[in-house]
Amino acid sequence: MQWLGVSSSSLFATLFLCLRLVYYSKAQCSLPDLGPGYVLTPDSSSKDTFLNGSSAAVQCGEGHYKNGGNETIVCKNGSWTTATLECKKRSCGSPGELINGAFNISQGTEFGATAFAKCNRGFEIVGVSYRQCFAFGWSNLLPICDTVKCPDPPEVAHGTISSRSSKEFVEYRDVIEYTCDKNFNLVGKAQIVCNEHGQYEEPPKCKETNCPAPNISNSVRTEGGPPPYKLHNFVNYECRQGFVMNGISKLVCEVDGWSSTFPTCIRVVMPVTSTTRTTTSATVRTSTTTKKSGIDEEIEEIEIPSTPSPPPHKNKTSIVVGCIAAVVVVAAIIYGLYHRSKKKGEYRTGEDARKNDEAMILSSQNQFKSNAS
Ligand SMILES: *[C@@H]1O[C@H](CO)[C@@H](O)[C@H](O)[C@H]1NC(C)=O
Ligand SMILES: *[C@@H]1O[C@H](CO)[C@@H](O)[C@H](O)[C@H]1NC(C)=O
Ligand SMILES: *[C@@H]1O[C@H](CO)[C@@H](O)[C@H](O)[C@H]1NC(C)=O
Ligand SMILES: *[C@@H]1O[C@H](CO)[C@@H](O)[C@H](O)[C@H]1NC(C)=O
Ligand SMILES: *[C@@H]1O[C@H](CO)[C@@H](O)[C@H](O)[C@H]1NC(C)=O
Repeated sequence: MQWLGVSSSSLFATLFLCLRLVYYSKAQCSLPDLGPGYVLTPDSSSKDTFLNGSSAAVQCGEGHYKNGGNETIVCKNGSWTTATLECKKRSCGSPGELINGAFNISQGTEFGATAFAKCNRGFEIVGVSYRQCFAFGWSNLLPICDTVKCPDPPEVAHGTISSRSSKEFVEYRDVIEYTCDKNFNLVGKAQIVCNEHGQYEEPPKCKETNCPAPNISNSVRTEGGPPPYKLHNFVNYECRQGFVMNGISKLVCEVDGWSSTFPTCIRVVMPVTSTTRTTTSATVRTSTTTKKSGIDEEIEEIEIPSTPSPPPHKNKTSIVVGCIAAVVVVAAIIYGLYHRSKKKGEYRTGEDARKNDEAMILSSQNQFKSNAS
């Protein structure tokens, strides 16, 4: 029978072939999905379909070794039998010994693991900080733990580095010491240390020595210039009239500040009464109180007579000359009186004698003046 020019027998043959193909393809196996560490042998992996009943050979993958079992797997009804081959990871052994450091091998030392190098405090890695375990062994070269180095220590204005290690580079824990130039004060820490990160702390500063302007109420500066005051500058103060000084009047600016605490000017109290009689007693009081104030510093006020005060800087020679003059005057008066009594009986108005006395006083006064000058 002829149908569309194709014989019925050949049509059936083709149909049968198609059915067979579908049937066989169902029983065939494709490339097996093996677990990690397993591969097909190069021979087996050259195909991509495996017939029902055919076998394939499995072997251990890269970085793995055979630890027993059977390499053969068989395609049965479209699925692979499980291999009994046992593959284990190869070990790379120790990643190496680090001086002043160690490897973190928490991942192990077998194929696929990474070992991380860690240096001890004050040391830093030179090289690659990790090694990976490959089939051929550890990757990268063994790194080195080198001492942490700091850059050259910073310069300090008006100061110098007085001490540092003799090594070429400043290393971890090395100490740098600074000293300030003369007339400069060190502020901050004199020493700085190179830390584990290769950094320094803040270096000190050198500040010029400056003494604060003294503030002494009721006083005047008699020596020294106006502020600012630098090292070895000095000042001297005197109290205004009506005040006496308690403390040291001369101040010298030293490295740590003024040589002494500022003096104070203490008010002198003036009593209201003023008679000649009180002069002597008041003077005594003054001297005793002054003496007392030398012992007891809490004394703040001193009483002195309100009678016209003698010149403040009356020197000793003028006092002596004054005394001599007074003695001379008194002697002259006594002499005059004696002469007058000797000439009794003589009628005298006394006018001549008085003039005589006056002349004598005048001459003695002149003598006093010439002595004084
Ligand atoms: C596959 O082969 C086995 C014998 O090796 C046989 O028993 C089985 O029927 C075959 N399967 C098919 C689908 O041909
Ligand atoms: C592995 O198994 C196959 C059958 O699955 C067998 O023919 C072969 O001899 C076995 N080989 C070894 C080394 O045991
Ligand atoms: C394969 O399949 C056939 C029928 O499809 C069955 O008779 C036979 O037992 C199967 N073989 C295996 C090993 O599963
Ligand atoms: C080692 O590395 C792991 C991470 O890989 C980390 O969790 C662990 O703390 C490390 N151990 C040490 C001792 O540093
Ligand atoms: C000086 O001291 C007085 C009190 O003793 C104070 O009132 C005044 O402000 C001070 N002046 C200065 C410039 O410090």
